[in-house]
Amino acid sequence: MKLSSAAAVLLLLLLRLADSAPPPFSCDASDPKTQTFGFCKANLPIDERVHDLITRLTIDEKISQLVNSAPAIPRLGISAYEWWSEALHGVSGYGLGVSFNGTIKGATSFPQVILSASTFDSNLWYRIGQAIGKEARAMYNQGQVKGMAFWAPNVNIFRDPRWGRGHETPGEDPLVAGKYAVAFVRGIQGDNYNNDKVEGQENNNGILQASACCKHFTAYDLDNWKGVSRLGFDAKVTKQDLADTYQPPFKSCIQEGRASGIMCAYNRVNGVPNCADYDLLTKTARGEWGFQGYIVSDCNAVAVIHDVHKYAKLPEDAVADVLKAGMDVDCGSYLSTYTKSALEQKKMLESDIDRALHNLFSVQMRLGFFNGNPNTQPFGKIGPDQACTQEHQQLALEAAHNGIVLLKNSNNRLPLSKTSSLAVIGPNANNAYVLLGNYEGRPCKSVEVFRAIQSYAPNASYEGGCKDVNCAVADVASAVRTAKDADDVVLVMGLNYSLETEDHDRVDLVLPGQQEGLIRAVAAASKKPVVLVLICGGPVDVSFAKDDPKIGSILWAGYPGEAGGIALADILYGQHNPGGKLPVTWYPKDFIKVPMTDMRMRPDPSSGYPGRTYRFYNGPKVFEFGYGLSYTTHSYEFISSTPNTLHLNQLTPTSQTTNETNSLSVSKIGANNCEKLKFSTHVGVKNTGNMPGKHPVLIFVRHERNSNITGRPLKQLVGFESVSLNAGESGEIEFVLDPCEHLSTANEDGDMVIEEGYRYLVVEDKEYSINIVL
Ligand SMILES: *[C@@H]1O[C@H](CO)[C@@H](O)[C@H](O)[C@H]1NC(C)=O
Ligand SMILES: *[C@@H]1O[C@H](CO)[C@@H](O)[C@H](O)[C@H]1NC(C)=O
Ligand SMILES: *[C@@H]1O[C@H](CO)[C@@H](O)[C@H](O)[C@H]1NC(C)=O
Ligand SMILES: *[C@@H]1O[C@H](CO)[C@@H](O)[C@H](O)[C@H]1NC(C)=O
Ligand SMILES: *[C@@H]1O[C@H](CO)[C@@H](O)[C@H](O)[C@H]1NC(C)=O
Repeated sequence: MKLSSAAAVLLLLLLRLADSAPPPFSCDASDPKTQTFGFCKANLPIDERVHDLITRLTIDEKISQLVNSAPAIPRLGISAYEWWSEALHGVSGYGLGVSFNGTIKGATSFPQVILSASTFDSNLWYRIGQAIGKEARAMYNQGQVKGMAFWAPNVNIFRDPRWGRGHETPGEDPLVAGKYAVAFVRGIQGDNYNNDKVEGQENNNGILQASACCKHFTAYDLDNWKGVSRLGFDAKVTKQDLADTYQPPFKSCIQEGRASGIMCAYNRVNGVPNCADYDLLTKTARGEWGFQGYIVSDCNAVAVIHDVHKYAKLPEDAVADVLKAGMDVDCGSYLSTYTKSALEQKKMLESDIDRALHNLFSVQMRLGFFNGNPNTQPFGKIGPDQACTQEHQQLALEAAHNGIVLLKNSNNRLPLSKTSSLAVIGPNANNAYVLLGNYEGRPCKSVEVFRAIQSYAPNASYEGGCKDVNCAVADVASAVRTAKDADDVVLVMGLNYSLETEDHDRVDLVLPGQQEGLIRAVAAASKKPVVLVLICGGPVDVSFAKDDPKIGSILWAGYPGEAGGIALADILYGQHNPGGKLPVTWYPKDFIKVPMTDMRMRPDPSSGYPGRTYRFYNGPKVFEFGYGLSYTTHSYEFISSTPNTLHLNQLTPTSQTTNETNSLSVSKIGANNCEKLKFSTHVGVKNTGNMPGKHPVLIFVRHERNSNITGRPLKQLVGFESVSLNAGESGEIEFVLDPCEHLSTANEDGDMVIEEGYRYLVVEDKEYSINIVL
């Protein structure tokens, strides 16, 4: 008895301790031996500290650090470090670094990235990143995070609508993905958004708030489609598509965002596994783009090089390949198992390990991990009250409010009137979890769509209609009965992130099971046209609903996060005016005849291949990229100060010619001249309706028809900016355009060139022509 009660007290004590465990850190000042270590001297340059540290390590200690769960080295006062933490749209328990078992029980769950993307609001993305970084630090300070490297953002291009992870990304456009990357990375890392890089003058004495990781490098956008797995997939990618589609988000993430991490992807690109690709990791990322940080493999991607790709003959070859290519840390245990034998077999040198360790310890030092007790440092003061603050939860609501897209609103069916009776139907109305999106954390709070709607319509009735989103059997009779009794009917349907997720691509683009039949039957039976709300990440072909006059309105809500139910209710009842725009093309269902494995962005008319995304695909669409309505209307105009002609011939004329006649190569124009060529265009926007609202304005560039470059985009997004206007109010937006970036085209060699001739700037129904003279 005594013993067991003592044990109980001990257990309680241990639990208390667990609740308030100190964060892991190295170089504890209270440990006298650390005073003598050069690597613990925070005032020395990081390179010097890292060098000092590496020279003290035995070969086994070195090898032990090459995996995500790096063990402690007690004799040197070095704590264990966990590299694998996740924070895609809020601090998440996926990975091994984060625990919600502690003082902090939840973290703000922002909308899944695809819905934040549809706000087209870089400043909002930045603030989301900042909030996530701060909550991560708060959890670290409570001992609930074992490593401050977070494997986000996912900035692969949403190339195919079936991709199971498309909703983790900012969509199909490389400019949007790049700008999202920059904003999110600077936010989470604690960097200033607008300041240009001043070496050693980042915020907080140069300490990173958290480390971001641009993933999955590169051309990764197929998970598991009809038995083709990402693990063994060899993506055949043209130089042209790499240059203007697959690489730009990573380039921005690294150059402008200054991300301190990259994850190399499972797949091969043109035969070479990404994590074993020296050209990609070392020449391009570190060499051309100036990447400073660590490169991690996707989990078990090193083993896959041997086991699945069969690219490496022996496990030791895989290890040598990745370390020589420039990868630094293995998510997995392959490197701890095979590095020693790879050395013994002389497949690599110890200096290959030192190179990797240099990057790994540098990032840990930039995170302050080697500066002693974090309590004494700037980020150490972020207390547990900084997670799930009102401000952060409000930000999650703002993101959901501004992301949700109004796809149809015939005869102003929305907003609803509070005085009408309401029936809510559908499996996604009664499920708070489905709102979060994958890589979710534990949210601060969660509110189902139906419960949120009840704050406007307390007497609303609810009927599931189907047991779950699979909707194998629909209870049409009950749903119709419930619908008939109400003035207004809102159907909350769609997918969930088991139907589109990691290792699982869709094989069709329609609503699952009996959903469509249920929606049609309810619509037909209802007194007035119904409202259809779609909770899903990737696009679905809802042409039937678009064309059905008994379906008055359609809202797409992505996976809108912990505040998504409230945001939807506010929009349904006109408390918020929706302004989001689609970040992906919604294709008709027969798009699935295109093999998902075909990576080509450009169409190939000879074989009937239609191309992909609004930039290249010219076939029928259910909804276009950039599409989205509002409860008000807007008019646009180009204000005349924009130049009509750009004379590039004033630039140093030597050696700028390319293979294509009448074009200039951007690399030969040079950064300085590109800077001089920048110009502004001003766009006037007027709210011509009778409701205030915020919405993004998208500016595209379209080329004149003739070109000597094959595979030029139909049009290309070159800028976006949100504007808030009251009814009747006008505003003006300035877009700064850089001809080298915005008016250039990738040729088949993957070089960016500027062709002479006309370009058209396009904002909604307005165009403005600019003549480029070489
Ligand atoms: C959380 O803590 C409880 C004890 O308080 C323990 O039983 C449980 O296993 C822990 N869960 C995780 C995921 O660590
Ligand atoms: C809800 O129903 C109750 C009783 O049926 C009624 O008194 C109340 O006015 C109704 N509220 C609304 C907002 O319709
Ligand atoms: C999606 O729905 C299916 C069918 O009900 C269910 O088994 C699965 O757990 C759901 N997944 C999520 C993430 O809600
Ligand atoms: C450009 O010229 C080089 C050699 O002169 C050739 O190898 C390359 O294929 C040419 N590129 C194009 C797009 O014609
Ligand atoms: C294409 O190249 C030819 C010369 O080979 C040139 O005369 C023509 O103007 C070019 N067309 C365009 C649109 O640049």
